[in-house]
Amino acid sequence: MKNTVLTFKEAKEQGTKITMLTAYDYSMAKIVDEAGINSILVGDSLGMVCLGYKDTLSVTMEDMLHHTKAVTRGAKNALVVADMPFMSYQTSVYDAVVNAGRLIKEGGAAAVKLEGGSSVAEQIKAIVSASIPVVGHLGLTPQSVNSFGGFKVQGKTQEAAQKLTEDAKIIEEAGAFAVVLECVPAELAKIITSKLSIPTIGIGAGKGCDGQVLVYQDMLGMFSDFKPKFVKQYANIGGIMTDAIKQYIVETNSGAFPAKENEFKIDHSIIEKLY
Ligand code: KIV
Repeated sequence: MKNTVLTFKEAKEQGTKITMLTAYDYSMAKIVDEAGINSILVGDSLGMVCLGYKDTLSVTMEDMLHHTKAVTRGAKNALVVADMPFMSYQTSVYDAVVNAGRLIKEGGAAAVKLEGGSSVAEQIKAIVSASIPVVGHLGLTPQSVNSFGGFKVQGKTQEAAQKLTEDAKIIEEAGAFAVVLECVPAELAKIITSKLSIPTIGIGAGKGCDGQVLVYQDMLGMFSDFKPKFVKQYANIGGIMTDAIKQYIVETNSGAFPAKENEFKIDHSIIEKLY
């Protein structure tokens, strides 16, 4: 069944959970989509897990478009949300609408996600007015890593918890149809969730959220640079890949690969005429 913004709305109303996972290319989008996920996020986390940067700040609109196009070719039923990269919306409301439009029009995404609260409320309003659905993102917003002084849990002081709660409400009022809460204490995320009519999608924000999102390389054991506390590793695909690649090296060196069944045939009379 095709997932849309209405799927998110109905899930919130009915109290059913929303599932979201990242994907950055065609093959993975197909696997995730066929598994029955509600939504695929083409996250700017691709800067770290696909491109090898130390954070998401270097990711460009062209990077996002390139990967979003690949994902939307592979996803049939999942709602594809594309991240707006750093400096594609902070600069002005005009830039925000133009760049959100490119992710929909050229990338084929069904919605965009951007980070921040009151500071980007005008951008959210303008993008929504252009008929583009928006997902907000609060808490540990990785594009603000330099302001936070590192990847740290957010909302732990009275003031920060209050600000997060107010920002969530502001995002809802600006017209976002969902909000990601990243690295927020579980109890606070639960309270924010109860105050909103739009669903919260948690990552490191506990089970009180309306849905969950993870970076697929983290949950499948395919990214070893670091492992956030909130990740549950459901499989060690990275280990399986390493074993398979080692086996390929051994068999290539020994001549066991390629075997007869991996070869193409040719009529012998043609070979004989070559001499
Ligand atoms: O870029 C991303 O993958 C994200 C998730 C961590 C929510 O924004």
